[in-house]
Amino acid sequence: MLPNEAQSRIAALRSELARHDERYYREAKPEISDFDYDGLKKELADLEARFPELAAAESPTQRVGDDRSEGFVRVKHRLAMTTLDNTYDETELREFHARLVKAMGTENLAYSVEPKIDGVAVSLTFEKGKLTRAVTRGDGEEGDDVTANVRTIRDLPRALKPAEDLIAPSLPDVIEIRGEIFLRDEEFRRINQLQEETGEALYANPRNLAAGTLKQLDSKLVATRRLEIVLYGLGACEPAPTGFGGRGRDDLRVVLGQSGPHGGGPSLGGFDSQSSFQAQLRAWGLPVVEKFWSVCGIDAVWAAIKELDSMRRGFAYATDGAVVKLDLFSQQLVVGYRGAGQAARKLSPRWACAYKFAPDRAETRINAISLQVGRTGAVTPVAELEPVLLAGTTVKRATLHNADEIARKDVRVGDTVLVEKAGEIIPAVIEVVLVKRTLECVPYVFPTKCPVCATTLVREEGGVKWMCPNPECPEKVRRKIEHFASKASLDIDGLGEEVVDLLLTRGLIKTIPDIFRLKVGDLLPLKKSGEVWATNLVNGIAARRTADLWRVIHGLGIPQVGAASAKDLARRFRSLDALATASLNDLVQIEGFGEKTAEAVRTWFNQPVNRALVEELHSAGVVPMPPVEAAAGAVLAGKTVVLTGTLPTLSREEATALIEAAGGKVSGSVSRKTHYVLAGEEAGSKLEKAKTLGVPVLDEAAFKELLG
Ligand code: IVH
Repeated sequence: MLPNEAQSRIAALRSELARHDERYYREAKPEISDFDYDGLKKELADLEARFPELAAAESPTQRVGDDRSEGFVRVKHRLAMTTLDNTYDETELREFHARLVKAMGTENLAYSVEPKIDGVAVSLTFEKGKLTRAVTRGDGEEGDDVTANVRTIRDLPRALKPAEDLIAPSLPDVIEIRGEIFLRDEEFRRINQLQEETGEALYANPRNLAAGTLKQLDSKLVATRRLEIVLYGLGACEPAPTGFGGRGRDDLRVVLGQSGPHGGGPSLGGFDSQSSFQAQLRAWGLPVVEKFWSVCGIDAVWAAIKELDSMRRGFAYATDGAVVKLDLFSQQLVVGYRGAGQAARKLSPRWACAYKFAPDRAETRINAISLQVGRTGAVTPVAELEPVLLAGTTVKRATLHNADEIARKDVRVGDTVLVEKAGEIIPAVIEVVLVKRTLECVPYVFPTKCPVCATTLVREEGGVKWMCPNPECPEKVRRKIEHFASKASLDIDGLGEEVVDLLLTRGLIKTIPDIFRLKVGDLLPLKKSGEVWATNLVNGIAARRTADLWRVIHGLGIPQVGAASAKDLARRFRSLDALATASLNDLVQIEGFGEKTAEAVRTWFNQPVNRALVEELHSAGVVPMPPVEAAAGAVLAGKTVVLTGTLPTLSREEATALIEAAGGKVSGSVSRKTHYVLAGEEAGSKLEKAKTLGVPVLDEAAFKELLG
């Protein structure tokens, strides 16, 4: 490769990595797997090694972005949080050992081998044994204060259990303990299911969901999700534990150019190594890793990693590798950190190494490619696989995304393919194993007609999807009715997917308005002694004739209109008829509505079938209820209020109702646009943010006075 080629490749890799960091850290929505990311990183590192003159100091050589986000108070770590490079390679792991052997002058090195938990890093501070702070990694030196959210973790004690035996002669004055926040797979699935029901975006994997949850501004919402934590690492500690000669990790402070060593002060007994620290964490009553290995020499390290690999699927948390640490603190102190003079997030300890397991892949055959038609008409191809065991579950289907993806990978029916599940729950087809292709495998031709109603498909405007344009396509109709009745929309009791299916196949309903014309007598033949069921269903439907207007708007399934936009539309137009005749101009005036959403609404109501649907809803007796209107000149008209902490008498719902009745809007995060913050007991970062931004803060009494 020529230097100029290398230069442009290096530039491209850097910007690509920066983009992925942004998606991963700030948005918690990565586009590529860790494995592919690490591949790009390695390519960059190799190029930079070959062309050192092109390697600038500012190169991202680790997945070390910056997770700090808007709305949180920033807190400096007492001791920086560094990170580690990953390797997938046994040779590199052995080289790590060889370097340490050289540095320490002995083959006989003790290591701690731990599961590498695929979660979100946090640092907890305990002062005199009490949990006082939880902070994300941030940029390594300063992170976001997520204390309120971390306090929702049930298994995390608020205080360290004091010594009962010799292990803990005393509690440190202050200690930072590092760990990983995670969600179990079953909790991930539960939340994603709810997301789906309420029409919200799905999370790719448990780690993203944990990251997204930890960065919620509303800790009440966080409390509804069961975050968990494991602790494994030592940050700052005063007094310093034995093993650091009374100085703690001052070597790291020196590398960072912070204050120098204090010199040997009194030491905290109890632990002088990673393995005894693990025992101490357990003795303090903190949740720790299920298993770690104390071993001597690199062969024993490798054996431990193999054993970890064979048992990790039984762990509560996703384990994507092993972290190997030189066990003795006194030896860690000797070898220190790499990257002196750089920012904290670019430093990495020479005493630790992260070995990652390659993602789970399996080879299997594509028996067929089936097509799913969604509510909007989007046609999604799915690979029907010869069932194969992958990461502990049997996989029968994998997404093929869209026609372009099939063409790009040249996936054909009958092909042997590699399927990957990299922590993600939804498996994906990675590539075709070409050497196993037989002559019978002919290129896949994406159908031109809807697999359900045979209407000619059309390309989504400006997108990659093929769409069924037929408004009467039975599959679209079924999905639309399901959506209308679902929790996120009308929330009709008893009208789930199965019942919708039953009613459609028996010809009892054909359209959404038909739901409201159902009679008990129609339903009786469907089930043996189904009187109670039929009566309940009909009553459930009748009860929703007067559903909130926003629910009906959401239920219509207008493209781009989720629950929040539906609420905005209901507040602004107050009836379906007014909405149906709203001009583009009226629509773009709504705060947060872009051209795209406004146009989608206008286009939807321009279509005669859709206007007919609205008409029919009226004639079927549906009378949507507009939101309660605030009296003219109401005190909070046009004002945004943020709630935080526990109020002395009002519940959150009551306070919200009062704010809305006074014309105000409740928002989850504090910004310069917030008019008031209503704060109660244990108000956390939002209160501090309000103070920083100079937003007026009210207590309950002041709030009531304001309302008059
Ligand atoms: S020790 C100096 N131990 O993985 C950093 N890290 O790739 C040493 N992680 O940033 C960290 N499990 O967020 C350590 N048992 C474990 C871990 C672990 C997960 C995370 C951590 C770290 C990254 C390193």
